[in-house]
Amino acid sequence: MKKYLFTPGPVPVPEEILLEMARPIIHHRTADFEKIFAEVRDGLKYVFQTKEEVFVLASSGTGAMEGAVANTLSSGDKALVVDGGKFGERWTKICKAFGVEVEEIKVEWGEAVDPNLIKDALKKDPSIRAVLMQSSETSTGVMHPTKEIAAITRERDDVILIVDGITAVGVFPLPFDELRIDVLVAGSQKAFMLPPGLAFASMSGKAWKFRERSDLPKFYFDFKRYLKDAKDNTTPWTPPVALVIGLAAVLKNYKNEGLEKIHKRHATLAQGTREAIKAIGLELYAKDSPSTALTAAVSPPGIGAGKIISGLRERFGMTVAGGQDQAKGKIFRISHMGFIDRSDIIAVISAIECVLRDLGHKFDFGAGTKKASEILGAE
Ligand SMILES: Cc1ncc(COP(=O)(O)O)c(C=O)c1O
Repeated sequence: MKKYLFTPGPVPVPEEILLEMARPIIHHRTADFEKIFAEVRDGLKYVFQTKEEVFVLASSGTGAMEGAVANTLSSGDKALVVDGGKFGERWTKICKAFGVEVEEIKVEWGEAVDPNLIKDALKKDPSIRAVLMQSSETSTGVMHPTKEIAAITRERDDVILIVDGITAVGVFPLPFDELRIDVLVAGSQKAFMLPPGLAFASMSGKAWKFRERSDLPKFYFDFKRYLKDAKDNTTPWTPPVALVIGLAAVLKNYKNEGLEKIHKRHATLAQGTREAIKAIGLELYAKDSPSTALTAAVSPPGIGAGKIISGLRERFGMTVAGGQDQAKGKIFRISHMGFIDRSDIIAVISAIECVLRDLGHKFDFGAGTKKASEILGAE
């Protein structure tokens, strides 16, 4: 059976990129690698929309999250964490592991944070040194208002904004320099359409000032070392050479397609998916501000999401993601990041209709596929 991957990471990798990565390995301390790395640096700055350096780390996204904390904060500092899902919780756990005090803004799963809560918290407690958030909270399929929050933090020299853009960078506009985000992290297995294994991070001038006073332990993820070596088109430690070669190829394609078109492509896929899900009679888990990266659908009453997920896998070879923690069994999540195109979405919607009908869900069979085709099949 043909296999389809609709999980919000890892995502499918285009064949041409797989072939690039299958080439004989070259050594990383060579002119050949430096040439590739120069292209990667340039391409990442393009996607991050920044003049700052973007570091390439050999880790999954969480490594870059850890690096963001370890490089900017100090023991005893207080951080304000937007916790509206699994990945918001992760910020809290990382901060606590490093001895950073945490104040949480708890957001109901499925909802976006109200920026006024951040404004008020910063006003009330001048000892807060950082705001940490997800631009797209993958566990709930919600986008938090990064632009509005950045407008608050940029007014303060003593507060930085650390953004998890792991399912945001390359999906929707998140211009690092323009918004004045201070640390932005991303990962290879999302919109970059690569296998897992690379994470990316960028720091603003304000964040570098924080770096100077930061006393948290750092070695492998010491961004100062990455900055120094990046200027020589290399990395402090042995990089995953094949992934970096794949990344160079992806970034070349990205430049050819253009960031605006890439963002638009994702927005159209998201809209087609959402409207189709609603036409099937399902609710979106995101009450407001659904993410452009993925769609989280609530399974109908009496039908566990696990049955939908296994039906898709067993009958159609399609893997979608389930919910985590409190959303487990209640939702299923369809990614539209990276190498997913219009026909993929039309196919998964059609398969969802078949599975749901056979599980006893009552709806206008075919309405979702029709809606997806109307939106995504247009020239
Ligand atoms: C928003 C977000 N943050 C963090 C992570 C964690 O990244 P990783 O699993 O690559 O460490 C993910 C992964 O799904 C994510 O979607």
